Amino acid sequence: MSSVEQARAVALDVIGLTVNGEPYQLPVEPQWTLQYVLADKLGLTGTKEFCAEGACGACSVILDGRAVLSCMALAIECDGGVIETVEGIARANHPLIDAYVKYSCMQCGFCTPGFIVTAKALLDRNPDPTLDEIKEAMVGNLCRCGTYPAHLRAITEAAKVLRGVVEADSAKTPAPTLVNSAIGARAAGMAAGGTEGGE
Ligand code: FES
Ligand code: FES
Repeated sequence: MSSVEQARAVALDVIGLTVNGEPYQLPVEPQWTLQYVLADKLGLTGTKEFCAEGACGACSVILDGRAVLSCMALAIECDGGVIETVEGIARANHPLIDAYVKYSCMQCGFCTPGFIVTAKALLDRNPDPTLDEIKEAMVGNLCRCGTYPAHLRAITEAAKVLRGVVEADSAKTPAPTLVNSAIGARAAGMAAGGTEGGE
């Protein structure tokens, strides 16, 4: 083994993460961000890197119950952490997913996973947020396509569904799995293309 390879081997450390309920043991280099590990090592590509400097919210994940910017978190510092990504939220059929479809919150869709993750963290701690509380919680999530009004409507409706105030649209839809797999793909950024979401 060369001296470079030896130095590299020393730099690797193994961390434990629980991601969307699944336990992982991962060798990581000290400079790897949480976003890099989730997207590139675990294939959870819904966690986007856009600005890579903590300014846009596209890389948001829930870490130990709190929305964090995964581009700004070193993976090695997250050892033992419990993480939820947009894939886990979609898989759990969270009401946000149907609400995001209903209100066409996506145009290019690049920001969408970060919005959904931040909104999920908000509704976890505050199931009945006011409009101002939603705006305050979402202030770190930026959308270049200008879909903001649609997000506010979707988050408000998802909160009502969670509280049982209104019925989930998926309950009225004949094939909810099709709807949810479609938004899961969109939310994970695997599909692009125009919708009428911007208002
Ligand atoms: S990519 Fe992390 S905040 Fe923009
Ligand atoms: S950046 Fe938000 S939909 Fe395009």
